[in-house]
Amino acid sequence: SAGRPTSSEKNVATIIFSLKNEVGGLVKALRLFQEKHVNLVHIESRKSKRRNSDFEIFVDCDTDNEQLKELTQLLRKHTDIVEITPCEDSTLPDDDMAGVPWFPKKISDLDLSANRVLMYGSELDADHPGFQDNIYRKRRKYFADLAMSYKIGDPILRIDFTTEEVRTWGVVFRELNKLYPSHACREYLNNLPLLTKHCNYSQDNIPQLEDVSHFLKEHSGFIIRPVAGYLSPRDFLAGLAFRVFHCTQYVRHSSEPLYTPEPDTCHELLGHVPLLAEPSFAQFSQEIGLASLGASDDAIQKLATCYFFTVEFGLCKQDGRLRAYGAGLLSSISELKHALSGKANILPFDPVVTCNQECKITTFQDVYFVSESFEEAKNKMREFAKTIWRPFTVRYDPYTQSVDVLKDTNSINDMVKDIRHELDIVEDALNRLNKDLRV
Ligand SMILES: [Fe+2]
Repeated sequence: SAGRPTSSEKNVATIIFSLKNEVGGLVKALRLFQEKHVNLVHIESRKSKRRNSDFEIFVDCDTDNEQLKELTQLLRKHTDIVEITPCEDSTLPDDDMAGVPWFPKKISDLDLSANRVLMYGSELDADHPGFQDNIYRKRRKYFADLAMSYKIGDPILRIDFTTEEVRTWGVVFRELNKLYPSHACREYLNNLPLLTKHCNYSQDNIPQLEDVSHFLKEHSGFIIRPVAGYLSPRDFLAGLAFRVFHCTQYVRHSSEPLYTPEPDTCHELLGHVPLLAEPSFAQFSQEIGLASLGASDDAIQKLATCYFFTVEFGLCKQDGRLRAYGAGLLSSISELKHALSGKANILPFDPVVTCNQECKITTFQDVYFVSESFEEAKNKMREFAKTIWRPFTVRYDPYTQSVDVLKDTNSINDMVKDIRHELDIVEDALNRLNKDLRV
């Protein structure tokens, strides 16, 4: 076509897309090129040959096909892609990965999806307790903006919480702490005093996410990333694959300290954090995350439901008694009492059954699922994940905090080398032990 550069030293790919009818659509689309570090060589707009009212954007970009694949998967969310012509002098994106939804490959990729929140800052629903409170809405906007400008690796800003916010937290903290000894699981009860000691958990102080993130990193390798509100299940689960937990930083409205229609920092700090510090629970959470990468919408729905009935509303059996480990329970006085009252429906956790259960947001759950241990829950999830078809296998590399896609012999060979090295360490340790025994 006219005006198209014919430079041969670079890989030039062509993408033609049409914009969805929204303000700032083109800016949004072009920002994706910037985020993926793809240089534009040439850009023009033209009237759509297909639909007269629309216009199409024609872009030549300087890229390789790996980058192109990621970019187009991202672009698909915001535009209608009409045509893609990959770089001529390299191989085509392989068929196996075609149609696989985009997923983050390295930890910093989470910055690309962490801002796709379902609710933003001051935009509260009409039935939200803070709907008519302009000061509260302004405060929420402040927290939303902080989360939106956050990048992985940044320190999390320390918040100067207001007296009112601390008072609200204090009510929640006091009431829940009365229930924990008789309702929370052993792991929770072991970790809570550590958080008091290291992160200043107390009724007069709202702990800072930055301190909590450091604490978790040392105990289980999890870190916290601030988020403005609800993420889609796909984006939220993807974070878990990298041992990143997305946390809200705002406090619920002071008019109803014991109720919140959405996650707030009280829910994250009292519900999630004590268990995320537990290595076996961290492993369980990460495995759900890894299973979600590149999975179909249907599979995501099932994994998210299993997540909901374990990480949010899970029960376990300890010393013959039911105990709660789900964060939704451990941060809600009324539902925590209800779940363990003897009146709630309780079934054994089985992902095949659990994945079809309806999740309730504004009322108590119809049923709760109980596991013998995190180990057991993890093994069941692992078996279940194998039944979810994906054209590839993923493996997490903790050194680079990235996901390896195992789909060719090279990537699998690399993994074998790593395992061999680990086995060398085991062998060495055993040899020493044997020598010691001979002495
Ligand atoms: Fe939660």
